[in-house]
Amino acid sequence: MKTETTIQGLSASLNPARTARKIIGFVPTMGNLHQGHLNLVREARKICDVVVVSIFVNPIQFGPNEDFDSYPRTLDQDQQLLADVGCDIVFAPSVEQMYAKKPRLTNISVSDITDDLCGLQRPGHFDGVAVVVTKLFNIVQPNYAFFGQKDYQQLAVIRQFVQDLNIPLEVIGVPIARAEDGLALSSRNGYLSAEHRQIAPTIYKSLKAAELELQQGIGLDTVLANIRQTLSAAGFEIDYVEARTPELQKIETFNQDVVLFIAAKIGQTRLIDNLQVKFNP
Ligand code: PAJ
Repeated sequence: MKTETTIQGLSASLNPARTARKIIGFVPTMGNLHQGHLNLVREARKICDVVVVSIFVNPIQFGPNEDFDSYPRTLDQDQQLLADVGCDIVFAPSVEQMYAKKPRLTNISVSDITDDLCGLQRPGHFDGVAVVVTKLFNIVQPNYAFFGQKDYQQLAVIRQFVQDLNIPLEVIGVPIARAEDGLALSSRNGYLSAEHRQIAPTIYKSLKAAELELQQGIGLDTVLANIRQTLSAAGFEIDYVEARTPELQKIETFNQDVVLFIAAKIGQTRLIDNLQVKFNP
């Protein structure tokens, strides 16, 4: 496995694969890798000849009061994990490498689906994601790119601009990897105190309870209210508890597949999760 820190170095490493028309798979990450990230790499390994993983904590997707400075940076450990799952090339550029000294005057902004959920709580976040992911796509030029369903709205935003801008690659969504107690794996779980780590699985438990309630015919509003009640009682500060269609449109009644979304803080740590509930009349 090679690690490249410059765009030029990465191009040089990828050139033989491009010339040989090898299938290139790409997994963008911000590092501090866990099994959720590694599952994306495993999926890429299954269908691609060459697997590239980027590790870049992207400053422009963090708000002024968010955790850019404290975001965990564990490159050595990440490289070891990536080598073990068969990654071929790690791309770990500096901020200067990705954002040259000249000011950037171009933005990529997906409307409608970003005016909701995390987009409301984190203004500019998805623009920052769209810009960096587009830059990375242009740098790596993969055939396939892999993203987790944990960040459901992010995946929808990426699918949308890839389609709208005719970016020539296929986006593949990968299911959420969870700890044994159900907590969705996240680099931010490392911020949790032992006490909060015990409480954190309440998020997934409340989603599973909601699934059962929906299947029993309990109304969507009541089900969402029950989630809010459970989370508040456990000590969470709720950002949102919402139901949307799989295409992220508003939905009032459970008369088609629905995705339940939670964003909630425990202590200083903001956690997100979601669960798709199938409609089987
Ligand atoms: P990061 O949070 O490091 O996540 C990288 C990828 O791993 C994303 O596609 C995310 O959805 C996926 N992922 C994280 N936890 C997961 C889990 N428990 N199960 C399945 N997939 C999981 O998302 C980002 O980085 C950034 O916004 C990025 C796309 C790299 C742009 O900077």
